[in-house]
Amino acid sequence: MPAQISALPAVVSSSHFGSPGKTMRFFIRLLFSSLVFISLLWCSHLLWKRLPQSQGDLTVLKEDLPVTFDTFLHTQQLRKKTLRSFCGQTAKITELPHNEQEASQVVSSIMVNNKLQLLHCKIPATGVEGWEQLLEMLEEKDVTLQMPVPAHQQFGTQKRLSQYNLTSVEALLKSYTKVMFIREPFHRLISAYMHGLADGLTFKEFIQYILYRGSSNASIEWKPLVSLCRPCLIHYDYIIMFGFLGSEVHHLMQRAGLLGNSQLPEFIDSKIRWTYGWLEEQMFSELSHVQKKQLCHFFRFDFAAFHFPNSLLWDPTCISEST
Ligand SMILES: *[C@@H]1O[C@H](CO)[C@@H](O)[C@H](O)[C@H]1NC(C)=O
Ligand SMILES: *[C@@H]1O[C@H](CO)[C@@H](O)[C@H](O)[C@H]1NC(C)=O
Repeated sequence: MPAQISALPAVVSSSHFGSPGKTMRFFIRLLFSSLVFISLLWCSHLLWKRLPQSQGDLTVLKEDLPVTFDTFLHTQQLRKKTLRSFCGQTAKITELPHNEQEASQVVSSIMVNNKLQLLHCKIPATGVEGWEQLLEMLEEKDVTLQMPVPAHQQFGTQKRLSQYNLTSVEALLKSYTKVMFIREPFHRLISAYMHGLADGLTFKEFIQYILYRGSSNASIEWKPLVSLCRPCLIHYDYIIMFGFLGSEVHHLMQRAGLLGNSQLPEFIDSKIRWTYGWLEEQMFSELSHVQKKQLCHFFRFDFAAFHFPNSLLWDPTCISEST
């Protein structure tokens, strides 16, 4: 499979011979079909496969864990610092509304795992699918926490934070470990497009549709993360970046004392990130200048809160511009 992927960029560049526009579009279609196929394969592998056991695979392992524990902690501190400065500057929801209904709306994306005492923000295609499977695996293995919850603090068994009453929501937010997954906005758009959410539209038309609907009517697949996960209200202990799930989740588990003797499955998001890396330039070039600016503005809070300096959409002026 990887050989097939790496062969494709060469095909694209050779399409400059002949009628460029049409040939290019044909190859981009071809790329999409291949990528959708590859994504489906990946999904069917539950987004990861088991860690290789044999000695011969050790090089693969090293590639997957390039980050040391110290670097991980440092990265977490930097991400939280960026986030704090964003929350300090912008008028955002920083407190739970007193009205039960409003409060449950605000925490509607947050999932609860009472056994492992974890909360996470559930946004599709940010790595959360692999995370949830990992939690299931840990639950099956009957991992016991070092400090079990005192009996009087049993909150219930609901899976969504919005299903708890206000008192419990506050207590859960205070005492559980909170995890959020982030992904570069343009990659989220590509993922949404490739997973068939565009219904026959070209990528450019899809983007036009998103911009027309605006952020308040946005679907969860492309709504800005800041509006979904409320990182100024919920003080996440860990902010995990798509593309680095393997090492970051490993260190998180270690830090949270959840790893025990169990081996972590391998995440394949770094390969997806790599594939998207060259795909995104093709898709980006389909958009008009105005669309690019509007998209940056659409995601301006995510850019300010999480810094995606390598994003093609990123343009410092779109944060400062008002409207
Ligand atoms: C909230 O839920 C908890 C746990 O189910 C319960 O003990 C408590 O009485 C509830 N509080 C209110 C104000 O309803
Ligand atoms: C957004 O949603 C509101 C309420 O559902 C609706 O009235 C409005 O027309 C929608 N706007 C667009 C551009 O779809």
